[in-house]
Amino acid sequence: MSVRSHAQLEQIFEEVEAPFAFVDLDAMWSNSDAMLARAMEKPIRVASKSLRCRALLERILRRDERYAGLLTFTLPETLWLAENGFENLLLAYPTADTEALGELALRSVANPAEAPIVMVDCVEHLEAIEGVLGADAAPVRVCIDLDAGWWALGGRVKVGPKRSPVHTVEQAVALAQEIERRPQVELAALMSYEGQIAGVGDQPPGRRLRGAAIRFMQKRSVAELAERRAAVAAAIRELTELPIVNGGGTGSLELTGAEDSVTEIAAGSGFYAPTLFDHYSRFSLTPAAGFALPIVRKPTAGVATALGGGYLASGSGDTARLPSPWLPEGLKLDVEEGAGEVQTPLSGLPARDLQVGDRVYMRHAKAGELCERFEALHLLEGDEIIDVVPTYRGEGQTFL
Ligand SMILES: Cc1ncc(COP(=O)(O)O)c(C=O)c1O
Repeated sequence: MSVRSHAQLEQIFEEVEAPFAFVDLDAMWSNSDAMLARAMEKPIRVASKSLRCRALLERILRRDERYAGLLTFTLPETLWLAENGFENLLLAYPTADTEALGELALRSVANPAEAPIVMVDCVEHLEAIEGVLGADAAPVRVCIDLDAGWWALGGRVKVGPKRSPVHTVEQAVALAQEIERRPQVELAALMSYEGQIAGVGDQPPGRRLRGAAIRFMQKRSVAELAERRAAVAAAIRELTELPIVNGGGTGSLELTGAEDSVTEIAAGSGFYAPTLFDHYSRFSLTPAAGFALPIVRKPTAGVATALGGGYLASGSGDTARLPSPWLPEGLKLDVEEGAGEVQTPLSGLPARDLQVGDRVYMRHAKAGELCERFEALHLLEGDEIIDVVPTYRGEGQTFL
């Protein structure tokens, strides 16, 4: 799985004090090529939450003209990125932040066609925007979030992220009409994120039955969503132009990309390739982001204990959300202690040889959350650290 060895990383980072985080650009660009190849020639909007590093967002957007714009995660983040020169911003989640909406309104007046687009899924979202706009303000551009969930047994089973209440063509058209009626908002986009396909690996290790159930669900969900998304986009286009139809994520690039109605795909996690993306049948990525921890004690001959490491990923709270020991290969977390707030005991064969002062390399379960733990990322190319760049946190920016 890894193209780097422990010895190689240790040589490269000889002068760097652990804990530290890094991104292997060789691996990241190989993941980038793989993602572009899977996206069926569609543009990719880069999901900023999955990178949380301005310098890397810039590098990625420069890399290929098919990287078009950012899918952002909070309105203050979006405004901060806009201030720093990023363009073509689509905020993926609704906001209730009236102060930030006020700032967005000013931006929309200054440049109505280029201001960020914000997400809505109900009348209350529209009213919140209208509430901060002066009577003759330029309209704020909005995007309808269409629920991409898969409903089975007549709607008694609902699979997928619990986000938007807009699921049917009729509901989407009703909200689009509501937007059309209101002069201070302008419908610019439709987004639907199929988390149950893009964010769920279909080959969970050691769980064959669950894997089969996931593949069953995903196959049906892909077919159902393709039809519904196309019908919604067509119905909205009867009312107004709809330049953007966004869908998908790292795990569904080829599936979402195959839908004619989709104009662009969102993706971010695939650049860093965290462990939650290790178990998909459709693709395999190269681990590109990691962090190093120092070994600070040896409770027994077979256990080496690292400082820190308890960087759990958000989500369901299962063990897949724990960080994973990466290099040297063969290390394991302790079943009782997992990854700890201040200490992480590691066992497995290589632990016998690890001594106080050695370092181990770990991977996070999710992508951007790693950057909330470190102020900087060391960027590797070949056998060299070519740059050290601040994460969002390193720039004093913690949005969530
Ligand atoms: C709205 C939306 N689109 C796309 C994605 C996919 O992002 P990634 O490629 O990082 O999995 C996500 C991830 O949660 C999302 O919430």
